[in-house]
Amino acid sequence: MIIDQVKKNCIPRHVAVIMDGNGRWAELHGNDRIFGHRQGVESVRSVVEGAGELGIEYLTLYAFSTENWCRPKEEVNALMALLVDAIVKEVDNLREKNVKMRVIGDIDSFPPEVQAKLKDAIENTGSNTGLNLILALSYSGRWDILQATKKLVREAIAGKITIEQLNEPFFIDHLSTSGVPDPELLIRTSGEYRISNFLLWQSAYSEFYFTPILWPDFRKENLFEAIVDFQCRERRFGKTSEQIRS
Ligand code: IPE
Ligand code: IPE
Ligand code: MG
Repeated sequence: MIIDQVKKNCIPRHVAVIMDGNGRWAELHGNDRIFGHRQGVESVRSVVEGAGELGIEYLTLYAFSTENWCRPKEEVNALMALLVDAIVKEVDNLREKNVKMRVIGDIDSFPPEVQAKLKDAIENTGSNTGLNLILALSYSGRWDILQATKKLVREAIAGKITIEQLNEPFFIDHLSTSGVPDPELLIRTSGEYRISNFLLWQSAYSEFYFTPILWPDFRKENLFEAIVDFQCRERRFGKTSEQIRS
């Protein structure tokens, strides 16, 4: 089994996923796009379970980007309804699996009902100590960097910080992912080779894994395959191979 090939002593702490290909999957199955999104919830369930089995600490799922607001109104509305439905249905399952949910993104841009359900799920799973599931909703990397910058400028104007204090750790503390290690592995499904404004700052040294599998077909076994691939790579962080091996 593929899980047996995963080396348990070097599991990435943080895996991030760009869940792409729902629309194409639906089209292949002769159905409308929302059918693909609905099927994608099944993949989320499987991947959350797989991440828990491996002891991954953080799993970030890109579920809705800032740019996705520009999709047809009917699709955006259907996605909102699906989000509420999935959260309500899954929260017991998350509690049972000891998963703690967190959201990153411009949550204020969501309809009040969606915000309330997200808040409930975050509160209901708040004391869990297992996998940290981070949903990126109305998220974009540029939004994140900008909101961090705004917070810092506000603090500077209020005289709480000086320019000299501004360094990388300090900046990182103001990102929406504050307290979360950068993802060692970033997976994108559906055969697209781009980052689509995801974790721009945080993925500076991530290993990328691209798979042609469409998100609704992706299962935990595919996550294990990605991790096996990741474990064969040499992460050099600017150094030479010789330096890394010594
Ligand atoms: C990803 O699937 C889900 C969201 C972006 C919300 P898509 O809806 O982008 O599916 P494709 O890329 O059109 O196949
Ligand atoms: C990226 O997928 C966003 C999410 C998976 C939520 P898109 O399908 O929106 O990306 P582009 O627009 O094709 O790059
Ligand atoms: Mg897409």
